[in-house]
Amino acid sequence: MARDFYSNPSFGTRPVTTKIGKTIMSANFTKFALGLAVALPTALASFSATAVEAVTIRLAHNLEPSHVVAMALEQLGDDLKEMSGGKMKLRIYGSGQMGGPRETLEMLQQEALDMTKGSASEMEAFESTFSVFSMPYLFRDKAHFHEVLYGEIGREMMALPKDKGFMAIAAYEAGERSFYATKPIKSPADMKGLKIRVVSTPTTNRMIELLGASPAPIAFGEVYTAIQQGVIDGAENNEPSYYHTRHVEVAQHVALDQHTSVPDYLVISTATWDALSAEQQEILMKAARKSEDYQRELWDAEVEKSIKLSKEAGATFYEVDKTAFRAALQPLYDDAAADQNKNAWIQRIEAAGK
Ligand code: GCU
Repeated sequence: MARDFYSNPSFGTRPVTTKIGKTIMSANFTKFALGLAVALPTALASFSATAVEAVTIRLAHNLEPSHVVAMALEQLGDDLKEMSGGKMKLRIYGSGQMGGPRETLEMLQQEALDMTKGSASEMEAFESTFSVFSMPYLFRDKAHFHEVLYGEIGREMMALPKDKGFMAIAAYEAGERSFYATKPIKSPADMKGLKIRVVSTPTTNRMIELLGASPAPIAFGEVYTAIQQGVIDGAENNEPSYYHTRHVEVAQHVALDQHTSVPDYLVISTATWDALSAEQQEILMKAARKSEDYQRELWDAEVEKSIKLSKEAGATFYEVDKTAFRAALQPLYDDAAADQNKNAWIQRIEAAGK
């Protein structure tokens, strides 16, 4: 369960190094408390790894340590340290200990945190363009998805929220999301009357409603208990998240309908980014891009492994007719056609790689 960060005593009074290198005692949780802690600034004549200013960057996310995105973030920390000659450090707060992505993205805006991981759906509340990733069956195949995510379109999108307080500096594959529930879902008709947890956005809520089900806006870390207690019937996610959250124990029927491909992003506060020197930015960007490659290489095997382990834990996976789901969800495309910005991005995405 996501803990209330502000009431966590371990984040109370503590010495904080400010940007001008003075150590102060912060009685309250201020923007300095989790902000960028930079030691004495030194004038740099020229770039060399050992001459980089010391900096500790704080990153919070809501994944378990075994998740490949969490592993990529650990790797990012190791690479940053190595590439900067030990000067750039990443302090990671995982497992939702600072709250869910909504909270951590807001903390980036308030300059109370430096970096977080947010899925495209979670970013949608701040920059509506990310809603395109919640459009069902938008990508023809994996190659098309990769072309968009890591190509010109994806990179352009990553910079969009910069004037809203943060921007993405790495994109991580998160496979396809499929429905799972306490009862079998073999066709759209089986969705009728079910309560399904989604990362709540206008697009995901409408998607669930079009299938005759009700959307439940529950935090990722609370889904297990909600299913176990019968508050909801199921949820939707990729296979690694289904397995690592142990949702497999409480909702054993998975429809492989693969309705959306919603990526994860490594997100940095604009204030933190701007406070970094050009050298620090360059190192961070290099390490971030390296973490993309690292995560992407692990992903497919992780999906296979998660399916195998889920089956061993009692799950049944159903191959379903995706065209039936796509047909039921057509109104989402009709709605999008009336939204100029969204429609323009959808068209660019559809044309990509052709
Ligand atoms: C996936 C995704 C996360 C997201 C989660 C969710 O696991 O990788 O970024 O938070 O789904 O459904 O909340």
